[in-house]
Amino acid sequence: MMDWTDRHCRFFHRQLTRHTLLYTEMVVADAAIHGDRERLLGFDDAEHPVALQLGGSDPDKLAEVTRIVADFGYDEVNLNVGCPSDRVQSGTFGACLMRTPDLVARCVEAMKAAAPASLPVTVKCRIGVDDQDPEQALFGLVRQVVDAGADAIWVHARKAWLEGLSPKENRDIPPLDYDIVYRLKADYPDHFIGINGGIHELDQAHAHRAHVDGVMMGRAAYHNPGLLAQADRVMFAETATAPDLADVVGIMADYVDRHVRAGGKAHHVTRHMVGLFHGVAGARQWRQTLSTRGVLAGADGDVLRDALRNVMQAGQAAA
Ligand SMILES: Cc1cc2nc3c(=O)[nH]c(=O)nc-3n(C[C@H](O)[C@H](O)[C@H](O)COP(=O)(O)O)c2cc1C
Repeated sequence: MMDWTDRHCRFFHRQLTRHTLLYTEMVVADAAIHGDRERLLGFDDAEHPVALQLGGSDPDKLAEVTRIVADFGYDEVNLNVGCPSDRVQSGTFGACLMRTPDLVARCVEAMKAAAPASLPVTVKCRIGVDDQDPEQALFGLVRQVVDAGADAIWVHARKAWLEGLSPKENRDIPPLDYDIVYRLKADYPDHFIGINGGIHELDQAHAHRAHVDGVMMGRAAYHNPGLLAQADRVMFAETATAPDLADVVGIMADYVDRHVRAGGKAHHVTRHMVGLFHGVAGARQWRQTLSTRGVLAGADGDVLRDALRNVMQAGQAAA
């Protein structure tokens, strides 16, 4: 998620769940070709399995970046056909591509041709934009990209209204239509079809799995990362005990120390962890400590160690 997630966030989430697939925020193809690749694409081996999401609509450039992404060792490359921001529309990629399924298919074809057999090429789309009929827009796009070789389709189960709504409003206001995604899956029994949009709890996610192959969670996973600690058990039938949040904090404190020693700031990492104890006694103190002490010059992993101590004490006091 652009402006929210980054490699530090993914490293943190990976401590909570082994089996989920983590996605990068969208990286624009031109930036990956001309920009600082290590900063844009670099990731820690511990993040696997991790998918890189690309924004673009030039088949040749997307093919070039797919080769680069393969060299970096990503587990999947995903094309964004769902982002509604103006910045993205002016570059002719994101959700406005719902109007040009032929072009999306050519992009997928070029990416598939460039990708090694081990690297799936996937698409994330909306059910349509503006006045499009979703039955035609979604089913039409999916038919073409599947024919072009797409290995999986993720559907954010609402339209994007490109005229008049902000990107934020476009994540909430156009009504959700899960049923159309279920019907898409029924039409593609042999293809991976995943659903996204407005799924806040793991029991909801589990219920969707009766109809589709995968469930993608965005905001809920970011704001309430503690739920990821249950994801392996609920979604992947993992039988090992869920990770202990205190152990995760210990690992992250050491990670912050390494990041600070390498010249980074504690806040780069701790900002992703503010919601970890959501709904638990001591959550407020945890949030406060991270947002006040985490941003101070010289902050290191001790911010997390001290904040954890406060949460444990609050938990004992509440018991
Ligand atoms: C701050 C923010 C940034 C986002 N950036 C991306 C992005 O880079 N690529 C993408 O496919 N979706 C992006 N999204 C959309 C989410 O992936 C997701 O489709 C949307 O939030 C609906 O799912 P949710 O209800 O589980 O959050 C972003 C969402 C937010 C809140």
